[in-house]
Amino acid sequence: MADLIITIDGPAASGKSTVARLLAHKLDASFLDTGAMYRAVTLAAMRAGVDLSDEQKLLDITQTCEFQFSVKAGKMTVRIDNTDVTEQIRNPEVTANARYIAAAPRVREELVQMQRRFAADRHKIVTEGRDQGTVAFDDADIKFYLTADPAERARRRQAELQGESGAGNLQQIQKAIEERDKSDESRAVGPLKPAEDAIIVDTTNMSIEQVVEKLAGYVKEKCSKKT
Ligand code: C5P
Repeated sequence: MADLIITIDGPAASGKSTVARLLAHKLDASFLDTGAMYRAVTLAAMRAGVDLSDEQKLLDITQTCEFQFSVKAGKMTVRIDNTDVTEQIRNPEVTANARYIAAAPRVREELVQMQRRFAADRHKIVTEGRDQGTVAFDDADIKFYLTADPAERARRRQAELQGESGAGNLQQIQKAIEERDKSDESRAVGPLKPAEDAIIVDTTNMSIEQVVEKLAGYVKEKCSKKT
């Protein structure tokens, strides 16, 4: 297992992914976007035309398709059976359907194992998602939980999706985010919630740079106590 594991959990569009990537860069650590894994299985299942509520079929997909996750130029690249799907997994339909994969206990177990294997090969890692500090790495060195007002998260997501077809207006984006929060918080397995020992950071009025600085400050403090 890695010498330093930092987890960042939080709701949709709370800035986790960007912050995790920049923090990892600052600390010379690897970065893992676990949402990309759920999205990749969702896309593979949609392409195979399987019933998304059939857990066994979803599990078969995780075992028969070859998923590759790698980080290139600070960006997580995803391949399914050797085809690059990095852009396709961000499609709004995939985003909406990911909840089926997220609620399937045996699929989650499989993905958590994949995440642990990914971490085992790395010296330092910053990993982000919904259950990283509570389930996948419950003994992580530092756990963060990022949050922000739904209206602010919707604005951020709109800026990110600018010009993309199917993105919708601000109101629709906020509604979709709130629905996703509800589904993430209420599922029986790996629900979205802060770990008991997580540091909670409300990013509503903070820039990405300020969030990264704040988290890096906690990491520095923690590492200086360790040595
Ligand atoms: O973070 P992102 O929005 O890419 O995640 C897509 C979906 O994957 C989330 O809405 C959530 O349902 C699921 N997910 C999860 N556990 C994680 C990461 C993502 O259930 N660790």
